[in-house]
Amino acid sequence: MSKKNGVVFVCRNCGNEFNKWQGQCTACNEWNSLQEITNHKFQITNHVKRGYGKLQKSKRQNIEVVNLSSIEGNFDKNKIIFSSKILEFDRVLGKGLVQGSVLLFSGEPGVGKSTLLTQLVGKIGGLYVAGEESVEQISLRVDRLRLKRKGFDILQTNDLEDIVEYLNRVEKLPRILVVDSIQVLVSNEFSSVAGSITQIKECAFRLIELAKTKGVTVVIVGHVTKGGNIAGPKLLEHMVDVVLYFEGEKNGELRFLRSVKNRFGSTNEVGVFKMNKNGLQEIRGKNLKLLERDGVSVGSALTILIEGKRPILVEIQALVTESFSQIPKRVFLGIDYNRGQLLMAVAQKNLGIPFYKYDVFVSVTGGMKIKETVADLAVVATMYSSYINKELRMGNSDKLVFLGEVSLLGEVKKIREMAKREREIKAWGVKLAEVKSVRDLKKFVIQ
Ligand code: TYD
Ligand code: MG
Repeated sequence: MSKKNGVVFVCRNCGNEFNKWQGQCTACNEWNSLQEITNHKFQITNHVKRGYGKLQKSKRQNIEVVNLSSIEGNFDKNKIIFSSKILEFDRVLGKGLVQGSVLLFSGEPGVGKSTLLTQLVGKIGGLYVAGEESVEQISLRVDRLRLKRKGFDILQTNDLEDIVEYLNRVEKLPRILVVDSIQVLVSNEFSSVAGSITQIKECAFRLIELAKTKGVTVVIVGHVTKGGNIAGPKLLEHMVDVVLYFEGEKNGELRFLRSVKNRFGSTNEVGVFKMNKNGLQEIRGKNLKLLERDGVSVGSALTILIEGKRPILVEIQALVTESFSQIPKRVFLGIDYNRGQLLMAVAQKNLGIPFYKYDVFVSVTGGMKIKETVADLAVVATMYSSYINKELRMGNSDKLVFLGEVSLLGEVKKIREMAKREREIKAWGVKLAEVKSVRDLKKFVIQ
């Protein structure tokens, strides 16, 4: 791309470059995200100055093509892939951590990124580059999490050159290097501030180079806001081997670890953790049950979601109460707001709930976010149960599970992966409610 006077406009969200300023980034559609960068020329000459040009020239004299059959069996796979000693972490990665790979670990501030990565370094040993916290703070956390101090090295710095210098100096390289976080890291070869697009790009580039040349696995922490529109993580995703997202409602205790990109494995596994005073506890096993109590109750219904490959039994709760305000309240936690509104309309039409004079609060226990429409029926069932102030049951049976997408006409549609969910229902000894239309919910009210 040609640049006038070395000035370019870089999108803070996705990192795309433009010749002139514009209100909206045409690549990612983010508004007002273009930032003028004047030292672009400096950037380029800088790379050359550091010897990238020379390196290429000298390497070119002895280009070597490796035939794969010549290295067959010559390397130890176990050395290349190693366990994180956190089973849920390994599950998400496929088998484990790959030597010399670069992982981006992103999530909202406060979700528990530093906690999980402290646990990781505590378990397998490594170097923790602390840019946000002091050595004392990390030391306290290590004690609180009851981790071994041996093998846990801390480098307290915001300076990228310190990391490079250290790795060049030490003989025994750390197996894993955690950089917490990329947003506070600066390279003093650039004048821009920490967290700017230039710094993030440069620091990530140099860390990736370090990982590849030294064979150290690097985990880069990147904060994202709810909208995901902070500089960095979006742009970094293209550069690294693995992109992990750590998510969960901060008020709830559940945390989910997902991979959205993985050059070494699949991306459809989810790791599940619980945050408590001893840090993040793994929730192991094939089946997950996120119930708050036993027994049937008013305003509560069960459903089965699929997280990654695993079915999870979750409880949905609703509170439908008479409203005292002009505009009744509608609060949906863990459920898409528009979907919730739509389900209310269907319930109003088919079950006769006069929502215009009722406040509605619906939440998913454990702070889960529902992405599947399969929970529709359960949401309608909880609202109905709360409205009539009666439990929904079949005879004097156990808890009922409601599964199905609800159409605008009130029909209940079949869902995918039914067999998997039915196995889960059996495993927990709960019952599937047979419902073809939303109106059928009335038959579960025992008079
Ligand atoms: P932290 O790992 O600092 O989040 P991040 O690095 O993603 O910003 O975790 C922040 C929250 O986790 C904090 O509010 C307190 C809570 N926490 C616990 O509940 N138990 C613990 O053992 C630890 C270390 C943190
Ligand atoms: Mg942190």
